[in-house]
Amino acid sequence: MDGNGRWAKKLLLPRIAGHKRGVDSLRATVKACIDRDIRVLSVFAFSSENWNRPQEEVSGLMDLLGIALTREVPNLHEQGVQLHFPGDWSKLNSRVAAGLSEAEATTAANQKLILNVCFNYGGRWDICQAAAKVQALGLPMTEQSMREYLSLGHVPDPDLFIRTGGEMRVSNFLLWQMAYSEFYFSDVLWPDFDACELDVALLAYQQRERRFGRTSEQVSVEPQNSDEE
Ligand code: FPP
Repeated sequence: MDGNGRWAKKLLLPRIAGHKRGVDSLRATVKACIDRDIRVLSVFAFSSENWNRPQEEVSGLMDLLGIALTREVPNLHEQGVQLHFPGDWSKLNSRVAAGLSEAEATTAANQKLILNVCFNYGGRWDICQAAAKVQALGLPMTEQSMREYLSLGHVPDPDLFIRTGGEMRVSNFLLWQMAYSEFYFSDVLWPDFDACELDVALLAYQQRERRFGRTSEQVSVEPQNSDEE
């Protein structure tokens, strides 16, 4: 969800105003996903590296998370959204961590859309924490055992990765999980992202041929998805 800071700067507003507007875009995108019967949405709300931002912005984002939990969870619950907050909670203040835990518990039985709000998340952290768990349990280090202990082990790998804000990099997001995702980069700043922009990305996705290592000829005879690999 990149571009909040630039969106705010263009309007001579503080960066946190862009993040606030970013929450509005996220709310609209969740609704758009539900309307389109998309079953899983994973967003990068705060990266392991975002602690390096100015203290004022970091605490603004922490406060925003607390406010968003209070304001948004009842509506999300009503819409049938199952919430998860993949990431390293050990550095979060205990009140915020308790809020995340409560939101996950409240919405655990919902089935309409799984929303993963990755917070204090890093793809490298995720791989290391999964490997540590696999090792501690004495399990063989296989793709299957790793998959189970990754913090998005409850959902299939993403089909489509969308990055807004014109940057063309992954920035330590779902490194393991995006092995076969289709990438879509948009110049639109996240606060301006809406259902129409989502449709543009989905249209681009529909035009891709997903081969998963096979040839085009094989794919046309027998389509396959990544989870069957
Ligand atoms: C990147 O844009 C965005 C973030 C680091 C924060 C994303 C957070 C939200 C959209 C709000 C939702 C968050 C919660 C707490 C639920 P940037 O700041 O790097 O933008 P820039 O590239 O224009 O500077």
